[in-house]
Amino acid sequence: MKVFKEAQELQAYLGGYKEKGKEIGYVPTLGALHEGHMSLVRKSKKRSDITVVSIFVNPTQFNEKSDLAKYPRTYEADAKMLKEEGCEVLFYPSVETVYPDGMEHGPELDLKGMDSLLEGAFRPGHFDGVLQVVERLLRLVQPDQLYMGQKDFQQFTLIGHMIRQLQIPTELVVCPIKRESHGLAMSSRNVRLRPQERQDAAIIYKTLNYVHRKFKKDDAKACEAYAMNRFRKAGFRPEYFRIVDGISLLDVKHFTQSDYIVACTAVWIGEVRLIDNKILKKVN
Ligand code: PAJ
Repeated sequence: MKVFKEAQELQAYLGGYKEKGKEIGYVPTLGALHEGHMSLVRKSKKRSDITVVSIFVNPTQFNEKSDLAKYPRTYEADAKMLKEEGCEVLFYPSVETVYPDGMEHGPELDLKGMDSLLEGAFRPGHFDGVLQVVERLLRLVQPDQLYMGQKDFQQFTLIGHMIRQLQIPTELVVCPIKRESHGLAMSSRNVRLRPQERQDAAIIYKTLNYVHRKFKKDDAKACEAYAMNRFRKAGFRPEYFRIVDGISLLDVKHFTQSDYIVACTAVWIGEVRLIDNKILKKVN
């Protein structure tokens, strides 16, 4: 596995493959890699010719400085996992490489307020930082395919809108949520849960599944109230549980109202904030 810290060296290396008509698959990450990330790497290995993974703890997407400082940095273990999986290229840039002209400017996008809904309502400015860094990384890596997880539903949706608006010539490939055996969505944050909390966290997935069935007969309000109550009874502190249109992210009231419907939730368990989602309907 080749490791690059500088963009120019990365581009020179990838240029050689591009000339031979090879397609580049790209998986951006914050590091602290787990099986969820590795499922994206495997998908890229299958669909693209060369797989590039980046590890970059992006300062502009953290709401609080303490959160940024606390973010787990496990470079050695990450690099080992990637090498064992057969990842060809690891891009590990510095802040100066990603933001040579400072961190002020981001892409001009018309997101119609979608970045202030759901996660955006609780993490103001978070998506400005995510879109800013992904746009820069895409410009540096210039991949043919970008692999992202359904786990961060609003994130991949906004990035899809950005790719279309800026006409970035990269295909977005969304990969299913990788879960622990009892259903909890894998996340770098799960290690911070106490053993009992980690067991209890399975209720999130169970609730999403229950709502999947319930929403076929009951309206969204009843489903949302049911989920919030179930979380509170379990001792969690839910921030939201919403049933939304998968494209506009606006609330959907009934199952027949849209062809693409997603239930999304954010829940605090102890000191850990977890997000999860489930597609309730998708008509192609
Ligand atoms: P990070 O949280 O490291 O996640 C990197 C990618 O892994 C994202 O596309 C995320 O959706 C995916 N992922 C995480 N857990 C997953 C799981 N259980 N199953 C499937 N995919 C999963 O998301 C970010 O980093 C950053 O915001 C980033 C896009 C890198 C920009 O800084």
